[in-house]
Amino acid sequence: MRIVCLISGGGTNLKALIDWQANDLLGGARIVAVISNTAAAPGLERADNAEIPTKVLSHHDFPNRSAFDHALIEFIDTYEPDLIVLAGFMLVLSNDFVTHYDRRLINIHPSLLPKYKGLNTHKRALEAGDNYTGATVHWVTSEVDAGDIIRQVEVPIMGEDTEETLKARVLDAEHTLYPSVIRDLSLGLIEC
Ligand code: GRF
Repeated sequence: MRIVCLISGGGTNLKALIDWQANDLLGGARIVAVISNTAAAPGLERADNAEIPTKVLSHHDFPNRSAFDHALIEFIDTYEPDLIVLAGFMLVLSNDFVTHYDRRLINIHPSLLPKYKGLNTHKRALEAGDNYTGATVHWVTSEVDAGDIIRQVEVPIMGEDTEETLKARVLDAEHTLYPSVIRDLSLGLIEC
């Protein structure tokens, strides 16, 4: 299974995928390219270090988002991917993009969807006094964070948690959840 990853920043989920791939744990899936919409994304260096081709494609260099999304499609498709993995990609993708990659596009979100779609998920979980939160891997559709759920993991919230400590605990869980879903997709254990 050929994977193209889209990132915007930290790339810790990308690093987890690269590590699983390096240890032959991704079920034969292979990251064939990493694309970032920001040049400063640390994830680009992680990909470089793993000798995975990278590309920066900034939406600021296009007249509008539709032109950007179409250029992105054109570039991604040169890699003939089976799966597009959003790993901290911070732009909302157009309907055309999402339709083009129907059932080939997945995302990881730091909450137990359908709870806390959108941003500031940890802050909202803390403010609500929740005892646990988690992360969700889901198919991407044109409605943000609303596609079918593939798999979730629960993470406890501790009394002394801050947004930062909770984010770190959830990210840690994401780093097993995302690679395991991709492995299982690659092995045909999850239906597309
Ligand atoms: C993660 O929390 C993920 O759930 C969300 O964006 C963050 C990306 O983190 N979609 P990183 O860039 O993988 O470190």
